Amino acid sequence: MGQDYEQFAANVKKKTGIDLTLYKEAQMKRRLTSLYEKKGFHSFQDYFQGISRDQDLMNELLDRMTINVSEFYRNYKRWEVLETKLLPKLLEKNKRLKVWSAACSTGEEPYTIAMILSHFLPLSQVQILATDIDENVIARAKLGVYPERSLNEVPSEIKTKFFTKEGGYYKISEEIKKTVTFKKHNLLADPYGGPFDLIVCRNVLIYFTEEAKSILYKKFSSALKEDGIFFVGSTEQIFNPSIYNFKTADTFFYQKI
Ligand SMILES: C[S@@+](CC[C@H](N)C(=O)[O-])C[C@H]1O[C@@H](n2cnc3c(N)ncnc32)[C@H](O)[C@@H]1O
Repeated sequence: MGQDYEQFAANVKKKTGIDLTLYKEAQMKRRLTSLYEKKGFHSFQDYFQGISRDQDLMNELLDRMTINVSEFYRNYKRWEVLETKLLPKLLEKNKRLKVWSAACSTGEEPYTIAMILSHFLPLSQVQILATDIDENVIARAKLGVYPERSLNEVPSEIKTKFFTKEGGYYKISEEIKKTVTFKKHNLLADPYGGPFDLIVCRNVLIYFTEEAKSILYKKFSSALKEDGIFFVGSTEQIFNPSIYNFKTADTFFYQKI
């Protein structure tokens, strides 16, 4: 690791609690270098002095470190598998599912889970925990207002039922909003609660080193009930699920043994 970046990572950890060394280095370094150069800094050291003085620069750094893109029903076919194959089995055992959407970004993912669960249960019985490291995205998730492009994959009856169009934006219904509790949580540092019936953690593990991922899989597995389901992103296959007490339930779904 370059010394300049290494020192920067140590300083950022001290200041924010976020450990950059657990994120894939080349990718993160590239993202942050292009950001500081754009701002007129010449080294990570120089840049750290900048962010220490200026909260706006700090917020920008946090924004760049955390990649926030999301959308409703991202990879639609996977959500269909959850709805038609896996949820009915989970619900056979227990109608009050404990669900966690980890690294939920601006809320599209936990709200998608609520919309799917609404096919099985009254929404008053649905309770989803949604967490992210980034307070800015949590604030936006709580607001629940989305541009049209976030809704590309939303089935039309769901769109009619749970969204109202206001100007160019779509506002999510209060009924859906009420099912989700948002909290700040760092997957790399904070305790995982549980036990959960379903944990959805998609499109964040790809940014972490292999060592960090392996620790996280263990923690997710321990936070699940027996037979509970772990749903990952469509580039995030686990190669040796049995090491973590998982068996493959379907592509990108793992069941706790
Ligand atoms: C690409 S978004 C994924 C959003 C959603 N899960 C999806 O698949 O559409 C990645 C999210 O991971 C969050 N994140 C990054 N590092 C994290 C960490 N250490 N703990 C918790 N969340 C983190 C970012 O803030 C960002 O909102």
